[in-house]
Amino acid sequence: MNWEEFEAKAQKCTSCGLSATRNSVVIGRGSKNTGRILFVGEGPGENEDRRGLPFVGQAGRLFDLALQALEFSEDDYYIANVVKCRPPENREPSEDECNACLPLLRAQFVLLRPKIVVALGSVAARALISRDARITAVRGQWFTKGDTLFTATYHPAALLRDESKKIDFYYDLKEVAKAIKDLKNKVD
Ligand code: URA
Repeated sequence: MNWEEFEAKAQKCTSCGLSATRNSVVIGRGSKNTGRILFVGEGPGENEDRRGLPFVGQAGRLFDLALQALEFSEDDYYIANVVKCRPPENREPSEDECNACLPLLRAQFVLLRPKIVVALGSVAARALISRDARITAVRGQWFTKGDTLFTATYHPAALLRDESKKIDFYYDLKEVAKAIKDLKNKVD
């Protein structure tokens, strides 16, 4: 399956109840061909559902600013979510909804073949790192699965609620920037 086929399939998904209330299937944004980093959030909010793109609201703007400040190249990353359809009232997606959507995230992983996966927040950490992961415990830690490094940090929306998390978030992203630089140096 190529990206085009994947996206066409995802657009038609009705694997869980979230499909009934969505305006858009929010698949991803970023570099599909050279993205060595896959950032994974929780699920689309109102702005994302309206525009069909992940992280385009207030939390997304904060995230983009951090990526720019740390000089991430846009060629290096792709951003997706655990669930592709907005949970009503922005509630947290249920475990069943996450499980129903995981085949789409797995397909994105296979197509992108990232070197680094970064879980943003606890829903993503539970889906990607371990079922009972707590974000305060796993953030900033690194886990190897196959050829891929996994890590986690706070969800950008958490920084809007608690400014004190910004320092750790920035530090965690700086470590990701360092890791990707090391990987590039190894290859070059
Ligand atoms: N929060 C998320 O987890 N994902 C988005 O795309 C937007 C907000």
